[in-house]
Amino acid sequence: MAESRAARSIFLDAERCPEPHRLRGPVVQRRYLIGGEVRDWNGPMEEVLSPIWREDSVGPAPRPIGSYPRLTEKESLDALQSAVRACDRGRGQWPTSPVGERLAHLEQFTHRMIECREEVVRLLMWEIAKTLPDAQKEFDRTVQYIRDTIEAVKELDRASSRFSIQEGIIAQIRRAPMGVTLCMGPFNYPLNETFTTLIPALVMGNCVIMKPPKLGVLLHGPLLEAFRDSFPPGVINTVYGPGSTVIPPLIGSGAIDVLAFIGTSAVADTLRRQHPRPHRLRCVLGLEAKNPGVILPDADLELAVRESALGSLAFNGQRCTALKILFCHRSRFREFVDRFAASVDALAAGLPWEQGVTITPLPEPGKPERLRDLVEEAVARGARVANRNGGAVHGSLFMPAVLEGVVPGARLYEEEQFGPVVPIVAFDRIDEPIRYVEESSFGQQISIFGNNPEEIARLIDPLVNQVCRVNLNSQCQRGPDTFPFTGRKDSAEGTLSVSDALRVFSIRTLVAAKGNEGNKAILTDIVRGRRSSFLSTDFIF
Ligand code: G3H
Repeated sequence: MAESRAARSIFLDAERCPEPHRLRGPVVQRRYLIGGEVRDWNGPMEEVLSPIWREDSVGPAPRPIGSYPRLTEKESLDALQSAVRACDRGRGQWPTSPVGERLAHLEQFTHRMIECREEVVRLLMWEIAKTLPDAQKEFDRTVQYIRDTIEAVKELDRASSRFSIQEGIIAQIRRAPMGVTLCMGPFNYPLNETFTTLIPALVMGNCVIMKPPKLGVLLHGPLLEAFRDSFPPGVINTVYGPGSTVIPPLIGSGAIDVLAFIGTSAVADTLRRQHPRPHRLRCVLGLEAKNPGVILPDADLELAVRESALGSLAFNGQRCTALKILFCHRSRFREFVDRFAASVDALAAGLPWEQGVTITPLPEPGKPERLRDLVEEAVARGARVANRNGGAVHGSLFMPAVLEGVVPGARLYEEEQFGPVVPIVAFDRIDEPIRYVEESSFGQQISIFGNNPEEIARLIDPLVNQVCRVNLNSQCQRGPDTFPFTGRKDSAEGTLSVSDALRVFSIRTLVAAKGNEGNKAILTDIVRGRRSSFLSTDFIF
């Protein structure tokens, strides 16, 4: 495929990166956190290649920007031991401490984290080529998530700070931690999606081992000291290095109680199977999706084009919630495809800090080639690239491709592309997209574009039983973070939101007693004497 001019020039501009966004030399991140100690690693390092390639005499080439420790099974087991010790079978300081105390640690961490904003945002741009506004949004959204979590924990605690009496039994019911939790986030939201499991896990009293995603590791470096200074030793530990080396010893030990993993279902299945007693492993999983957009005959096309372009191509389509296939009614198909293709061609490709840029280089090695294979396979089956530079590749940059006429059987019709390729399919009867959703392996969200309330209502009822969010005249998305975020089939396990996450990282436990005088006296004494963190009517304001 032809190289576009825009594509050829972007890497040259990287040498003129403005001062605030420029990396000041290689980012050699040798440190990792275990048992409250930030350790220095003197062993082999993993090289980090930026998606922002450099242009040299023979063409574009990957740009090394730093490195991080390639830890081994030994350090992984050290991290595990440290978390197990801090947890101490539920007797540790952290899992038994009052909620108010844990919140104070989290508040301290939030202040320290905010100080790292500039550095984390800069690394988000260089490590995964997220645009400056999106990188800032990822950081700020994460801070807001922590603040909302603090409020939700208070609310949960207030509701539990009382006794219930049923059938003569007095009980206090609270949520207790699960134990040792392994958190693994994805490369597309390396900070936010790691923290949306890490933070609730911590605040509910679990002791955590965190492994950053393969891409987007360095940006966690600035936060290590904040973690060390804000939480008791062993409550949070980090491991780096190849997942195939550092993860099996953790899960295979049987000592991990919760696995929070955002990635592919194939990896999730492999991880779960490594546990010697898989029924003991609670899994919180965010997996693949192939969210469709359906454009009905009476849709407002301007709005549908705008939302679909945003939904399919924000961060180059590298969002689990991205619109990954569009179905348009045949009566509007030509008009929709032409307008959509024109709006995609108008998107600016460039470097993350450049103003107005939407399309940026892709961080996964070999991804442009994989996307090109998908496009070529669909074309060989009769599809057509409908936009001007669609599919042009230059190094790590892949110009978004709009494909019309993608047929069932083409890989692009069924597989999650997780990149800037948008297949558009014409339909005659609404049963066609509905059947697609029913037969799909995935069940996260759908977007419907139309204006007829009767028709929309007819679609809502079957679709809410196939996916977990039906979006009307709006793109698919996770937020607001207070809304439940989950999926059916191969798309998720467990529900995340600010308040749901507190539930998935904890279990309901109660203290119960027959309501006789003796027991009443014991309970009163414990509560009045403030002898227990669990059995308590203290109210957090
Ligand atoms: O990659 C999956 C993310 O949870 C999507 O979040 O819809 O806010 O981009 P978003």
